[in-house]
Amino acid sequence: MEALPAARKSLFVPEPARILRKEKLTAKETLFEVAIDKRSLGHKPCQFVEVSIAGIGEAPISVSSSPTSSATFDLCVRQVGSLTRAMHALEPGAQIGIRGPFGNGFPVEKIADKEVLFVCGGLGLAPLRSLILYCLENRGSYRRLVTLYGAKRPAERLYEKELLAWRKDARMELHETVDIAENGWTGHVGVITTLFDRIEVDPLETVAVVVGPPVMYKFVVLELLKRGIMESRIFMSLERRMRCGLGKCGHCQMNGIYVCQEGPVFCYSEVKKVREAL
Ligand SMILES: Cc1cc2nc3c(=O)[nH]c(=O)nc-3n(C[C@H](O)[C@H](O)[C@H](O)COP(=O)(O)OP(=O)(O)OC[C@H]3O[C@@H](n4cnc5c(N)ncnc54)[C@H](O)[C@@H]3O)c2cc1C
Ligand code: FES
Repeated sequence: MEALPAARKSLFVPEPARILRKEKLTAKETLFEVAIDKRSLGHKPCQFVEVSIAGIGEAPISVSSSPTSSATFDLCVRQVGSLTRAMHALEPGAQIGIRGPFGNGFPVEKIADKEVLFVCGGLGLAPLRSLILYCLENRGSYRRLVTLYGAKRPAERLYEKELLAWRKDARMELHETVDIAENGWTGHVGVITTLFDRIEVDPLETVAVVVGPPVMYKFVVLELLKRGIMESRIFMSLERRMRCGLGKCGHCQMNGIYVCQEGPVFCYSEVKKVREAL
């Protein structure tokens, strides 16, 4: 087993990491390619890290790159408050702190040999990209990969260049929609559930993975169940306010469940009866 550097001995102590590259994806979101000084991150798809900037604070951010790109990792950050504003102001070469990876990550073994349907809304593509890239790299292990992606406006679509490449990639089917068509958008218009009419799924072979804003889950799950997909084959990543990431502070608790440790990925059958979950 790899020896842990001194700072890694306490999961409460951030490790020094460096921003290697910065790319503006939209008006609000920027992609940061990051490297930890002394080790590879070693994350699973859909895990998150706690990002800190000295004197400002800390916030949980999902890892957006595939686990197989081991030397560096991507964070897609939306500017909303103090930490994310400070991060957007940093340039390549700047140092940040990283704790983690935290969370259970996506159970990739549960989708082997299946048809995988990714349903992502808005910023939900950030964590799901780690799993989509992993599945594309291991394409032979899946029967079919289908991605449904919905954004509010065309200008809010994340990873635009990658979406264009996926559209041409025979390994995956991509269907996109926007709520409001602007700037010459000629694609589909409507909420994400309207994309379900464009695909046929084999309910006995399909596993669905859903990540998006809270309002999306209820309607997407109804659509999946209507198509006969089993509750135990619907996975979702839930976001809750988090602080420690380690099951100690209680900030992320949802009816006794510590989302930072037991999640953020849950199976629908596990959380459907949990009050406040959906
Ligand atoms: C597991 C997990 C993964 C995440 N992954 C990403 C990611 O990949 N990219 C990204 O940009 N953000 C992500 N977030 C959200 C991010 O952690 C928050 O936006 C964070 O609070 C930003 O810190 P800040 O100091 O800039 O903003 P703050 O000053 O903390 O908050 C700014 C505004 O956002 C609201 N807010 C804060 N946290 C949340 C939350 N969890 N849900 C809803 N509203 C919130 C606040 O109420 C406030 O209005 C993730 C959150 C979790 C729990
Ligand atoms: S974030 Fe502290 S217990 Fe989950």
